[in-house]
Amino acid sequence: MKLNQDQLAAFDEQGYAFFPDCFSADEIALLREEAGRVLKLDRPEIWREKNGAPRTAFAAHSFNDVFALLARHPRLVEPLRQLFAEDVYLHQFKLNAKSAFEGDVWQWHQDYGTWARDDGMPDARAANIAVFLDEVMPVNGPLLLIPKSHKQGVFAAGRDTLTTSYPLWTLDNDTVTRLAREAEGDGGVGIVAPTGKPGAVLMFHGNLVHASPPNITPYPRKIVYLTLCAVSNHITKFTRPEWIAHRDFTPIIPAADDALLDYARGRRVAAE
Ligand code: SIN
Ligand code: MN
Repeated sequence: MKLNQDQLAAFDEQGYAFFPDCFSADEIALLREEAGRVLKLDRPEIWREKNGAPRTAFAAHSFNDVFALLARHPRLVEPLRQLFAEDVYLHQFKLNAKSAFEGDVWQWHQDYGTWARDDGMPDARAANIAVFLDEVMPVNGPLLLIPKSHKQGVFAAGRDTLTTSYPLWTLDNDTVTRLAREAEGDGGVGIVAPTGKPGAVLMFHGNLVHASPPNITPYPRKIVYLTLCAVSNHITKFTRPEWIAHRDFTPIIPAADDALLDYARGRRVAAE
């Protein structure tokens, strides 16, 4: 997947880009099956909400073949190689469950704030590219983004270790209010919540301010995030476990575009 000039310009201006139909129903069926398996595992990489429901599976690419393919899928890797005009490596891989009724809040934050403070990443030359495994709806805890908030660098933040099971550098309400007001200027929208079918892809800048509300609906909202970093911008501090902030800076060699379908075919043949 290559971004055209309009898409690159929109990403630069808004801080995110949304692609509604990136992965097919067959590819998503395989990913969902594996996600269900992974979230049931009892391993240190699987973090739970305070109520015990799965919240995040880190580094599933390191212990699951299907997610290993997704972690080097060309539809995810190529746009970021193009954006940074160099090879990228995988800084973080996470599957966020946002379980039905149980999925908890992610407070307002910037990811690069964490990558800089905790991991010593030199510049905001890393970004998230996310695949929706479930339908993301207005009601089931969608990601909330503040357009253009990536243009002002890293904001002051406080380390929240209490609200959820995951420590996060979070922004205060005044900053969020100011940024939303600024985004509203010139007829813009203060906060957007990209929604879409399974298979949609959302890419967003490391400094884009975002959050997500709890999920109190019967509809789970699983999203897989690859954080891809320009190889020359690799992290310099190792304060977090290797499976949260990776230390292998090897450039990703993209898989074949049909790698997931090929894997599913192989599994069917083996079962016959
Ligand atoms: C994140 O901000 O890293 C995840 C938020 C979410 O999945 O809702
Ligand atoms: Mn985040």
